[in-house]
Amino acid sequence: MARTPLLAGNWKMNLNHVEATGLVQQLAWTLKDFRYDKTKSEAAVIVPFTDLRSVQSIIEGDDLPLTWGAQDVSVHESGAYTGEISAGMLAKLNCSYVVVGHSERREYHGETDALIGEKAKVVFAAGMTPIICCGEVLEIRKAGTHVAHVLSQVAECLAPLTAEQVGAAVIAYEPVWAIGTGEVATPEDAQEVCGAIRGYVAQAFGAQAAESVRIQYGGSVKSTNVVEIMAQPDVDGALVGGASLVADEFAKIVMYYVGA
Ligand code: 13P
Repeated sequence: MARTPLLAGNWKMNLNHVEATGLVQQLAWTLKDFRYDKTKSEAAVIVPFTDLRSVQSIIEGDDLPLTWGAQDVSVHESGAYTGEISAGMLAKLNCSYVVVGHSERREYHGETDALIGEKAKVVFAAGMTPIICCGEVLEIRKAGTHVAHVLSQVAECLAPLTAEQVGAAVIAYEPVWAIGTGEVATPEDAQEVCGAIRGYVAQAFGAQAAESVRIQYGGSVKSTNVVEIMAQPDVDGALVGGASLVADEFAKIVMYYVGA
């Protein structure tokens, strides 16, 4: 079964709902101008919570070829958790995706692999797909233990999930040293880790899950490097930060297949 590549723009804490509407419209117009073919790749925008309703309305209202999602979720269903957003609330906004365990949440909010696994589980329970993030910091890369490190993150994050859920999940490998730094992992670096993740999924959850799980690379992806990254056999997409805030640039990334 062929995996549809997923090019997802993680806007992080950028753009209010008015600006979000503008960028989504611009992106849709640019994709139309470029003759985007949504059977070749899937384009998603992962936006701040306050943008979700506006983004949903414009994409659904104008039938734009985009999916959308959130950047985090609470593990709790409802109740006295001031400031948190539940999976049920996100599902009600027709989110397809929820990013869990981004390195910025691990670093600034102390999120652990166990918590991230629980978040992935509640995302599935609400009928959405988690984009489960993993990746090593520079010291670990320098020590040469990055593959073992990432596989241990993946093992714990996937532990609460069934084989069927793992097969439907998205895993984003984002080496922390390549995020927002302009420092890109080489296509071979990306393949080394993404291939190892798929190997782990095969061993722990079976061949079918390994065949269908989508594995993204993230970290300074741009229109100028996306083609060679996407050419790697175990890379099924990209999680894009900075470059997803520019319509023309993100449209080129989504349409990487033109240059392939
Ligand atoms: P940049 O593309 O800005 O390096 O960000 C990557 C990222 O963290 C996406 O989640």
